Amino acid sequence: MTIIYDTEKKFFHLSNTKISYVMQIIREGYLVHLYWGKKIRNYRGSNQILCYDRGFSPNPDPTDRKFSLDTIPHEYSAYGNGDFRTPAYQVEQENGSTVTDLLYDSHRIYDGKPKLEGLPSTYVESDNEAQTLEITLVDKLIGLKAILAYTIYEDLNVITRSVRFENHGPETLKLLRALSMCVDFRDDEFEMITLYGAHTNEKNINRRPVTSGVQMIDSVRGASSPQQAPFVALVRKDTNEHNGEVFSFNFVYSGNFLAQVQVDPYYNTRVVMGINPFDFSWLLEQDEVFQTPEVVMTYSENGLAEMSKTYYDLYTKRLCRQFKDKPRPILINNWEATYFDFNDEKIIEIAKQGKELGMELFVLDDGWFGKRDNDLSSLGDWVVDKRKLPKGLEDVVKRVTNLGIQFGLWFEPEMVSEDSNLYRQHPDWCLHVPNRPRTVGRNQLILDLSRKDVCDYIIESLSTILNSADITYVKWDMNRHMTEIGSAHLPTNRQRETAHRYMLGLYYILETLTNLFPNILFESCSSGGGRFDAGMLYYMPQTWTSDNTDAVSRLKIQYGTSLVYHPITMGAHVSAVPNHQVGRITSLQTRGYVAMSGNLGYELDLTKLTEAEKNEVITQVQFYKEIREVVQFGDFYRLISPFEGNDAAWNFVSDDQTECIAMYFKVLSEPGTKIKTFKLRGLDETGLYENVETKAVFGGDELMNVGLTIPRVKQDFISYCYRFRKIN
Ligand code: DGJ
Repeated sequence: MTIIYDTEKKFFHLSNTKISYVMQIIREGYLVHLYWGKKIRNYRGSNQILCYDRGFSPNPDPTDRKFSLDTIPHEYSAYGNGDFRTPAYQVEQENGSTVTDLLYDSHRIYDGKPKLEGLPSTYVESDNEAQTLEITLVDKLIGLKAILAYTIYEDLNVITRSVRFENHGPETLKLLRALSMCVDFRDDEFEMITLYGAHTNEKNINRRPVTSGVQMIDSVRGASSPQQAPFVALVRKDTNEHNGEVFSFNFVYSGNFLAQVQVDPYYNTRVVMGINPFDFSWLLEQDEVFQTPEVVMTYSENGLAEMSKTYYDLYTKRLCRQFKDKPRPILINNWEATYFDFNDEKIIEIAKQGKELGMELFVLDDGWFGKRDNDLSSLGDWVVDKRKLPKGLEDVVKRVTNLGIQFGLWFEPEMVSEDSNLYRQHPDWCLHVPNRPRTVGRNQLILDLSRKDVCDYIIESLSTILNSADITYVKWDMNRHMTEIGSAHLPTNRQRETAHRYMLGLYYILETLTNLFPNILFESCSSGGGRFDAGMLYYMPQTWTSDNTDAVSRLKIQYGTSLVYHPITMGAHVSAVPNHQVGRITSLQTRGYVAMSGNLGYELDLTKLTEAEKNEVITQVQFYKEIREVVQFGDFYRLISPFEGNDAAWNFVSDDQTECIAMYFKVLSEPGTKIKTFKLRGLDETGLYENVETKAVFGGDELMNVGLTIPRVKQDFISYCYRFRKIN
């Protein structure tokens, strides 16, 4: 990869073996976007910007009516001096003005990729993996600098972007908007893909035409949210899974965000992404710095599959940290088995049964602390409930681990119940605003993580528990969104910083705890996939994908999630039937195959299984252990979309193409239906593959181009799993 600056033409050209990204400094120092897409060897300016005299587009130079900031493609758009499209930033000055003019000042090109202070981000393990370009733009009148950072990785179709604001002037400035990126495409022939949903219905795929005006998704909930994920892909109209261009944007941040696509009157498309400016501002005093989170931008000329593969490669290797290379344990979680109603004997019984069935980790979920018999109390009081565990946590952990199974524990550290000792002692420790009622969600309030004392309390109370026993896994839950967003610690003119300061506090806690406990596997959860985002993955390499454990619902949830996140990051559990969320009865086989398509776990009362079911679970667990490396570290290919019909299919292939697991799911049985085949992907087309079960042998090319015939069974919710091994 290289980043070249052409001093004569003032082009910046970032390229690697796959992509090119080109910008130019023009006129007084405006930084314009010229190209992003498939790699070109040398950019010489074939697509020069044509300027016309456009009505209502103002001119900074009165002698040149053709030049307007309103009609050129920007890299970081300003407000107030002629560009009427969405700005990437906006800064209020002491005189009340919000007009700024950032012009090129200098740049720096270097090997590697710097950390973003206090924020999650993709990283390099050695400096030769990536190159970074920092372009400094300056508004000389007020002494504001914006340093735009671009990193290009070797051999990945990725550009990452972020911005650092520095106040070198005499005034205190107020950032009203500080987005992480802006890119202007010179056409509007796109469709837009986003992931939307709700609790228990996360990551649905929405595809809609991009059209004149603004289309946007955002979150004002204080979390990235299950309602809209911080992800947008612009695709060409004929783009599908394996063909066509995709330009995608994913935000490495877990709080409020904005992603906006705007088509201007001249059919140009602007994409911006960053912290949601709504209800945000940030005071930047003299010499202070504000760092925006990072946006990961991927380009694919081969459809959505290549986009996903890029995210998988980058995120599993250079976003996740601890445990990224370690196979994940098969867990048994007691939540849907007992909810709040358990004691030590019940816990031991489930753990023992789990061990006998081959599971590797027992997870004690909600209800073990304070006096938590329901969701009305005790969050914040991280002290074991001796009514349920009379001999203490240490004793239960010992008894469980003595069985030969690891022990994991649930926390919801960011929350406080009104009925808790913590709240009684520190009623000002939650997010709130003076003289207003405090709105609860799931009967709880949110701790004010913009405060260092609150963060330190969380670190200390969790550390005490984690040090007290042999705990090897933590489930980190977060079950409500923010209201009355204010902090008792911040002055009036910084109140609108609270939501972002909260995220910085959360990241500080997570950084501290994951460093203090490097051998603990952390799983993120927010009522399931409510905060399944790249920011969280930096600290916690897996996420509980959804509170909906129904196998059929999970087909869509996991398929949608897989657009950006590899299956190793997705917690997926086999639960009881009728399913607790939707009441559906599906076979243990289908529940098993769906859960084995991610990070396998069980979440039901194992002691209530029949002998036949136990035997089936033993077989499943054994099977998953055999295929785990392929599922967790192999490539994942989507084959049939559950969003488009009555079935779904996908396959996993090991890196060396010797192992393949293919799964097919049919939702409802249909009469007179067509005989269907499904075609695998990612195999060695010249290799021979043996079906491990039937011993039938097929060429890789046959499996990929001809496909497998799906047997017809008159039953709902059926599933098939095929395991192939390369024999030649
Ligand atoms: C929400 C989580 O998503 C569930 O898995 C469970 O941990 C509950 N919270 C416990 O309250």
